[in-house]
Amino acid sequence: MDAMALLLDRQSHGKLEAPAPSAEQMEMIYRAALRAPDHGELRPWRFIEYSGQGRETLGEIFAGAELEDNPDVSDKTLEKARGKPLRAPFVIAVIAAVKADKKVPRIEQVVSAGCAAHAMLYAAHAQGLGAMWRTGDVVYHQHVRKALRLEHDDELVGFLYLGHCARGDRDIRTLDPADFIERVEG
Ligand SMILES: Cc1cc2nc3c(=O)[nH]c(=O)nc-3n(C[C@H](O)[C@H](O)[C@H](O)COP(=O)(O)O)c2cc1C
Repeated sequence: MDAMALLLDRQSHGKLEAPAPSAEQMEMIYRAALRAPDHGELRPWRFIEYSGQGRETLGEIFAGAELEDNPDVSDKTLEKARGKPLRAPFVIAVIAAVKADKKVPRIEQVVSAGCAAHAMLYAAHAQGLGAMWRTGDVVYHQHVRKALRLEHDDELVGFLYLGHCARGDRDIRTLDPADFIERVEG
């Protein structure tokens, strides 16, 4: 695939189906992640994969967050939380594993983890896979942070849902770069 076409054409796919990415595809996805810009070479990245029944473990963690917020939460809400990771055959938690460093502040390490997640979306797209980056309140919830063993300064930048596209591409609204650019010229 042409590199510019990859950059211009990537789109998120919320409807994803089996099969999960192969081990070879995942290797490329992680290699792309590890090429994220990384000030100070701190490698501030950690990934947790959920596949097969492992996704149910993540669903229980999401349900646990709901229960912690409201012990009287309805069964319907709990079931919805449990079902979220089942929206794709493969889910990856992307974590900014922030290192204490005199030169590189926390925000730069979180941005680096965001870049890693973004690269993973492209690597998925380049290999004909579908992907979607999702967060929601769960990524900031202490119950979820604890279950995923985040340290105090770490950030859960999101969950990448991966699989095969169940639907075709949608029309993408092409934005005009001029609407986002300020130019300072001599
Ligand atoms: C940090 C981050 C978190 C996001 N969280 C969600 C989410 O929880 N739910 C959702 O529907 N879209 C979420 N999105 C947006 C989608 O991933 C996607 O970018 C959006 O639907 C636009 O589709 P596109 O990527 O094809 O332009 C998030 C995006 C980012 C960058």
